[in-house]
Amino acid sequence: MIAYGIVFLVAAFCNANGEDAYLPSYIKQCSYNDAEFASCVKQQVVLSLPQFTKGIPELGVPSIDPIDLDDIIIDGNGLKLSLRKAQMHGLSTVHVTDLKVNLKDESFTLKFVANMSVSGVYNIDGRILVLPIKGDGDCLILVDNTEVEISSKLTPVKGKTGEHLKLVTPNYKYQIEKTTFQFKNLFNGNKELSDSMHQFANANWKQLMDDLAPPVIKQIVRTGVKAINKFFNKVTAQQLINDYPLD
Ligand SMILES: *[C@@H]1O[C@H](CO)[C@@H](O)[C@H](O)[C@H]1NC(C)=O
Repeated sequence: MIAYGIVFLVAAFCNANGEDAYLPSYIKQCSYNDAEFASCVKQQVVLSLPQFTKGIPELGVPSIDPIDLDDIIIDGNGLKLSLRKAQMHGLSTVHVTDLKVNLKDESFTLKFVANMSVSGVYNIDGRILVLPIKGDGDCLILVDNTEVEISSKLTPVKGKTGEHLKLVTPNYKYQIEKTTFQFKNLFNGNKELSDSMHQFANANWKQLMDDLAPPVIKQIVRTGVKAINKFFNKVTAQQLINDYPLD
């Protein structure tokens, strides 16, 4: 189902091209009329996710683990922070906690918990709460047990050789349990200042993540949905789902 979900997202950005590809062998069909359709899809998503997130080159579906993030620049509340050349790791090992697909309602909900990490090059200057912070170099941000819920319309769209599913107007919310920052070369490498700032920043992680998390999560959801929709765009609903009704 994650694979389905990811495919849905991707499809939104592409037009069906009529050259329908074969399903990757690790994705098995579920049956439209099966009373257990929803749980079948969930199982398929759970099983195929680790491979789907690594991309399906034959179908032009990109890898989403890691995800290259756009530069993030924050300037407000007395703090300037930039994060460049950033990559987000972790989507291939998410734990799917809930997946609901209802083709009749055209609804799709996916909940997962992930341990993610963001690596990149940072530059920081200003204050966190009252403490001055300054530095630039490599950084690693470990984001533990983040719960993400994506809900979307799952709409059939007509292609040349059949219908394709597509995730349209996805919404999301998230909750982060804990974040640990590792900034290299803080205060020009002064170990004492750096150690005490890390202690302070990690204890007050919410302060930084209030600014950092929204652009990162937004890019993760957008990239994931795009990949899913790309997949959906390449295979028809009939290929994905046994007994899919033709009208
Ligand atoms: C995240 O890491 C913690 C600590 O290692 C572990 O207990 C938890 O199960 C992990 N969660 C996921 C979704 O992998």
